[in-house]
Amino acid sequence: MAWNNQSVTTEFILQGLSSSWKLQIFYFLFFSIVYAATVLGNLLIVLTIVSEPRLHSPMYFLLGNLSFTDMSLASFATPKMIADFLSEHKAISFEGCITQIFFLHLLGGAEIVLLISMSFDRYVAICKPLRNLTIMNWRMCVGLVTLSWIVGIFHAMSQLAFTLNLPFCGPNEVDSFFCDLPLVIKLACIDTYILGVFMILTSGMIALVCFILLVISYTVILVTVWQRSSGGSSKALSTCSAHFTVVTFFFGPCIFIYVWPFTNFPIDKVLSVFYTIFTPLLNPVMYTLRNKDVKDSMRKLSSHVFSPSLHWST
Ligand SMILES: *[C@@H]1O[C@H](CO)[C@@H](O)[C@H](O)[C@H]1NC(C)=O
Repeated sequence: MAWNNQSVTTEFILQGLSSSWKLQIFYFLFFSIVYAATVLGNLLIVLTIVSEPRLHSPMYFLLGNLSFTDMSLASFATPKMIADFLSEHKAISFEGCITQIFFLHLLGGAEIVLLISMSFDRYVAICKPLRNLTIMNWRMCVGLVTLSWIVGIFHAMSQLAFTLNLPFCGPNEVDSFFCDLPLVIKLACIDTYILGVFMILTSGMIALVCFILLVISYTVILVTVWQRSSGGSSKALSTCSAHFTVVTFFFGPCIFIYVWPFTNFPIDKVLSVFYTIFTPLLNPVMYTLRNKDVKDSMRKLSSHVFSPSLHWST
């Protein structure tokens, strides 16, 4: 190989969130709790939606799948980050690094398609109520979920296509708690300007366009609700504002990091906590604390679980 006189990087060093020992102990406890809450919360949502016939509607079908994606998104890097808080040598192999990049983009891509599907579902339910059942049928729901995984896989492969063959020979310190693509590309020992532009086009710009589409669709929904302002409007308002909060927390940091990959801001790794850790937690919080149907179903589920003498309603 051309660069065989230099040592080839086989592992990367993750800088983590902080180098202070005390702070790392605090982060260890804090993120352990956040991670446990995220997994349990999302698992509870999936179980509730699957087991409760009253929640077998397109919105909850998509929400259940969003919870599953969130649970995976919270798990591809966070457990390693938590373990790393207690370890001196925060290393990750080259393959491990590539795997993290793959899963971040697979799950991120799937999440974006699901968020758009959920806004489409709300748009149809609120703005086209008479055609709701014909448009959002079972096949459409399964199709949207399938589409989300296909888009995720293609997007993740497109990101790997130009990362896999990069030569890494010099610096190997990734200034974050996981291998985020913009940080890894910067370590390659060739000029990565073109790659940076490609990444802006395939990640940053797509995220930006999707976010603008979502803003427009939720604006249309809100305006429709306002104009009608009938009985069900406050419920629609609270559902849509919950959706939109999740959307903003997910897209804001993504866009910030992937649209400006050439400049590295110190705030970047704090922002990446949002799309890998806080957004997956936010989903159960927004949907359980604010939604009466979900809360009632969870209560019902827990009474079934804790009093086995009652039989399951099927
Ligand atoms: C998610 O999607 C799959 C396949 O489309 C479906 O079988 C499953 O029930 C969905 N999950 C939830 C929790 O709704």
